[in-house]
Amino acid sequence: MEEKKNDLDHLFKNNRDWADAITDKDPEFFSTLSQQQAPDILWIGCSDSRVPANEIIALPPGEVFVHRNIANVVVHTDLNCLSVIQYAVDVLKIDHIIVCGHYGCGGINASMSNESFGLIDNWLRHIKDVTRFNRAELDLLEGNEKSNRLCELNVIEQVKNVANTSIIKNAWKRGEQLSVHGWVYGLEDGIVKDMHTTLSSLEELKVKNNPD
Ligand code: CO
Repeated sequence: MEEKKNDLDHLFKNNRDWADAITDKDPEFFSTLSQQQAPDILWIGCSDSRVPANEIIALPPGEVFVHRNIANVVVHTDLNCLSVIQYAVDVLKIDHIIVCGHYGCGGINASMSNESFGLIDNWLRHIKDVTRFNRAELDLLEGNEKSNRLCELNVIEQVKNVANTSIIKNAWKRGEQLSVHGWVYGLEDGIVKDMHTTLSSLEELKVKNNPD
């Protein structure tokens, strides 16, 4: 019987080459990094394979703490996401949280259709909520324009969700410097757009929560 070929051999080779290239430049890189991690940034992004956190902002291992899920949603009761935020803020003492969505997001588009995709329909409910909150604005748009705007509105909403967690509010109460940012990444040009929805204090959050 022929020996079964390991289909992932190329990945082990890639990994070797990658580790060798880094060690060639900096022989101490891995040994230094293995002693500690001290990232400044928590990245909350989409699971989409085209939106890799470190690559987009050109930062090496050790610089970005990462949480990704479909359509970069921050749900008030998602213990996975909340645990990442809590560890990042309370233990790693990161200074910036970036919620990064992207145009052409499959999760956003799926939420706009009436089709059923299985279990994920329940996750996409959270984006349908964002649609409902912004119905008046979105009803004026169609097609790509509507989808792109929903990608932006979703990021703006998720920034508020991060800022409204007890974790962030308590950090601000303790006087910690911490900012929550909302970005949208363009698959077509690789460029990130700042939604200018940054929140850095309880006062700013209060205004966002009660805009009138
Ligand atoms: Co996506």
